[in-house]
Amino acid sequence: MPIRPLRWSWLWVAAIACSKTAPLPAAPTPPPSQTATPSQTATQPSAATPNSPVAAAASTPQPGDLRTDIDEAARARAVEGKAIFHKEFSIAEGMGPHFNFSSCAACHNLPGSGGHGDKLHSARLTVINGSTDGLPQRAVPGFEVLQPTPGVPINMRKPPPLFGLGLIEALDDAYISSHCGVSADDGIHGIANVNPGQKRVGRFGYKAHTSTILDFVSNALNAEMGITNPVDKDPRMFKDADAVPDPEVPTATVERIADYVRALAPPSPPAVDAKAQKIFADIGCATCHRPQTAPGVQAYSDICLHDVGEDFSSHMKDFLAGPSHWRTAPLWGLRWRDHYFHDDRIDDLDKAIRAHGGEATKVRERYAALPAEAQTALVKWLHTL
Ligand code: HEC
Ligand code: HEC
Repeated sequence: MPIRPLRWSWLWVAAIACSKTAPLPAAPTPPPSQTATPSQTATQPSAATPNSPVAAAASTPQPGDLRTDIDEAARARAVEGKAIFHKEFSIAEGMGPHFNFSSCAACHNLPGSGGHGDKLHSARLTVINGSTDGLPQRAVPGFEVLQPTPGVPINMRKPPPLFGLGLIEALDDAYISSHCGVSADDGIHGIANVNPGQKRVGRFGYKAHTSTILDFVSNALNAEMGITNPVDKDPRMFKDADAVPDPEVPTATVERIADYVRALAPPSPPAVDAKAQKIFADIGCATCHRPQTAPGVQAYSDICLHDVGEDFSSHMKDFLAGPSHWRTAPLWGLRWRDHYFHDDRIDDLDKAIRAHGGEATKVRERYAALPAEAQTALVKWLHTL
């Protein structure tokens, strides 16, 4: 039996609230220049003079800005990729037969290009033939919308932000594996996921099931937009049933989009608040949400999997990730989010902390036992991450 080089049965797909063959809503795609509103930039800590927006813009990367540490050629490729990221694919170009939205930017747009998406752009996952798979919410004319099988679990996931992912991709496999948050006293034992097809430590996706940005983008084109491409060699994903000849885009298209994602700047560092940072470390948040993910990478995550309790169960496995295992949510960019966890279930940071279970139970109890002022100070600082 042939072993697939990559595991692409896993197509995560989006749900729109009303589902069925609803007409495409106007995709909330901001023009490339419109990356942040004044109210969003105002909450950002900045070393620049407060009254000098020009100085602030120069010193503080805004959501959707490109990294400043890449060379001219990489920047040029990223600019090309950004245009494809925002492009709405048409049926004539191969979108479908099953799809969710017609562009990457339709889902990754908050508060700017490459950001997170709201709940209405969530992916719907299920189990098909024993593995985690997806059910697109839409079909082009002439095709049926796929329906869930009664009794089989469904799990909803919102689009996560893509800022700084190039830094995460650059992490060494061994580094991730040897820095998973572990605390015997607290019952915390993080594990690095491994994608057997890619033979690498996984780091992308809520279950850290994918190892490289290129592979994720290839899969996203297929699963979200129904665009086949030569990067993905799995015939089930490489060929689709619409009338447009496969592959529907060349490798270069996938590479340029990956160049864009890789070039997205990480959120600027949070406010310095020695008291709040000490609480974060002392009560054990930092065991999983490692402020220094790696030297120079302040993602507030160990990029490993932790069981956060039955309430979080997806009822499906993903390589080494059990149903209640999730990648420690990177907290960088928290300043731009107002709903928390993979399914946006909670809209209040204090409640989000109190919702942690499983391996995080002891840490949560320590938080709950803090004086109210300490809790408030911690939450206030978290809003600046
Ligand atoms: C329908 C909404 C939707 C569309 C369209 C979409 N995505 Fe996503 N994206 C998601 C969701 C949901 C996830 C999380 C999936 C998971 O891990 O289960 C995700 C995850 C990602 C990740 C991994 C992020 C991380 O933190 O590990 C990358 C990279 C990504 N998407 C890139 C893209 C690109 C590039 C495109 C266009 C080719 C695209 N996405 C189109 C919804 C979408
Ligand atoms: C055992 C590891 C672990 C510990 C300890 C832990 N967390 Fe988490 N945290 C996670 C995981 C895993 C998620 C993602 C769950 C999901 O996506 O459903 C998460 C999610 C979050 C989120 C939501 C982020 C978002 O963007 O959706 C916040 C905020 C958060 N944690 C803050 C904290 C704070 C503050 C503490 C300390 C009181 C803490 N966590 C302790 C593992 C941990």
